Amino acid sequence: MDMKELRALGKEKFGKACRMCPICDGRACAGEIPGAGGVGTGQAFRNNISALAEVKLRQRIIHNVHTPSTKFALWGKILAMPVLAAPIGGIAFNWNNYISEEEYANAVIIGCKNAGSLGMVGDGKLPEIYQGGLRCVKEAAGWGIPTIKPRPNEQIIALARQAEKIGAIAIAIDVDAAALINMTVSGQKVGPKTYKELLELKTNINLPIIIKGIMDVSDAVICAEAGIDAIVVSNHGGRVLDHTPGTAEVLPEIADKVGKVMTIFVDGGIRTGFDVLKMLALGADAVLLGRPVTQAGAGGAEGIACLMNHIKEELAAAMIMTGCQDLSGIDRHILYTK
Ligand SMILES: Cc1cc2nc3c(=O)[nH]c(=O)nc-3n(C[C@H](O)[C@H](O)[C@H](O)COP(=O)(O)O)c2cc1C
Repeated sequence: MDMKELRALGKEKFGKACRMCPICDGRACAGEIPGAGGVGTGQAFRNNISALAEVKLRQRIIHNVHTPSTKFALWGKILAMPVLAAPIGGIAFNWNNYISEEEYANAVIIGCKNAGSLGMVGDGKLPEIYQGGLRCVKEAAGWGIPTIKPRPNEQIIALARQAEKIGAIAIAIDVDAAALINMTVSGQKVGPKTYKELLELKTNINLPIIIKGIMDVSDAVICAEAGIDAIVVSNHGGRVLDHTPGTAEVLPEIADKVGKVMTIFVDGGIRTGFDVLKMLALGADAVLLGRPVTQAGAGGAEGIACLMNHIKEELAAAMIMTGCQDLSGIDRHILYTK
């Protein structure tokens, strides 16, 4: 399987839910939720793309970097690349029923594992979504990260216990789903979290905790003060609040403030290995891919592994072209500014 075949499969399976545009930039699908789009005008989704497009790489080729290492160490595990699959809940509902929730979760977990990456699985209005993801992570001997919606703390702690039991690597909480309509209309309580509530989660959960959906320095500082292990700088792919800036725009100030005390992930509009390199240079330790993985899911686990390997190869080539031997050598000096 190659990227060309994957595109053809996606076009065949997705119908109007995802048009497989040459550049996945949120224009054609603006406002389409359910669907692949960003909320409202779709501006937050487009801002993710335009913020990354504005970042320029400094080409440097007089050096001796021939075989760069893309290896990434995370909580005692070594990944082949600093690229993970983002959690996607409601794939069937949003993506033309091309795959069931559990088939998708399985393809993500297995496809990522086979490529040396790591997949995250989601939560949603039906309890089955979280439980299905958990089963897939269990079958992969814990090689995955279950993500829990910002439910009341006692529910989060109970769901996190289940993740602890199956040996998951970490858990994530997508706090930016605090006002998600599909949760509230189905009677599933979600809401924002305070410093005290984060502290309670940290005290009661025996796995690294990732808080996903941070777009502001003060939120990042509160997470760090509560002892949270990692954050995802994310606007949920532009699906929760219209008119936010792009994640590449807010990442540097957040990384400068808390990057030394916690792991920083970022997502939003990352489509290529070049984009990955830009995000690492702006201060992220690793990135998540959302829509590109849902699209590669047209080829099942094999399709997702194919995408991850492709991104890794692009990243390695971009590291040669900017003179970076390994991830520790990537910082803002590889960005071009006048
Ligand atoms: C259809 C769809 C469903 C999503 N479901 C979830 C979810 O259940 N939990 C979550 O944390 N993020 C969810 N997200 C957001 C992604 O995890 C990720 O933040 C976003 O897609 C990244 O942007 P990108 O798609 O441009 O790569 C979803 C995104 C999409 C497109």
